[in-house]
Amino acid sequence: MCKRPLSSLSSVGTLVAPSILAADFSILGEEIRRVERAGADMLHVDVMDGHFVPNISIGPPVVEKIRGITGLPFDVHLMISRPLSYIGAFATAGADGITFHLEADDDPAEVIKAIRREGCSVGLCLKPASPAESVFGYLDAVDLVLVMTVEPGFGGQRFMADMMPKVRDLRDEIDSRGLRVHLEVDGGIDESTVGAATGAGANVLVAGTAVFRHPLGAEHAIGILKK
Ligand code: DX5
Ligand code: ZN
Repeated sequence: MCKRPLSSLSSVGTLVAPSILAADFSILGEEIRRVERAGADMLHVDVMDGHFVPNISIGPPVVEKIRGITGLPFDVHLMISRPLSYIGAFATAGADGITFHLEADDDPAEVIKAIRREGCSVGLCLKPASPAESVFGYLDAVDLVLVMTVEPGFGGQRFMADMMPKVRDLRDEIDSRGLRVHLEVDGGIDESTVGAATGAGANVLVAGTAVFRHPLGAEHAIGILKK
């Protein structure tokens, strides 16, 4: 049972979810406490299988270990081909929200049901090539839509400004239906791109490099993103 549903997070104002992909993994615990103290709203956990994306990151054992050291909600982003087989493992490890890709192999309706069965919040993610309309049919069933603003797989890439019309279309659709669905963007978010993302209607910002590696510290970085 997931303890910190994303629906309990404010949909007014901007939420920041630092991506631990940019943390120093040799001192991961300290890094997480650092961004928690700095004002992070949740922690973004990037899971890659070396198949859906050309990179491998972390899995349930790491999520389970870090669950014990922070009260932040875990926003687990599954960049994996077969999400259905791993929902239980991530929920048990301590995920609060589980976001999977529309482009993965499993039937999205089945994955949504499986995440709900675990009592977790549901997120649905779109790669850059997938249009806004491809998730319209699921909007009533999810808590969050994640628009990738880079090709998934690696941190530190350049923000794709041409994804902003998609964010705008999703914001309009969510609002016109009166839904309380978070709209999250992920990839290349920093002080120079945040305005475009929030201006288009995003209310949750994933930021790895811009938070964990900001020369003036995480508190400064999060403050700027929230402004
Ligand atoms: C990319 C990941 C992102 C990534 C963001 O596949 O989903 O969460 O870590 O990193 P930055 O903020 O450095 O672009
Ligand atoms: Zn991510």
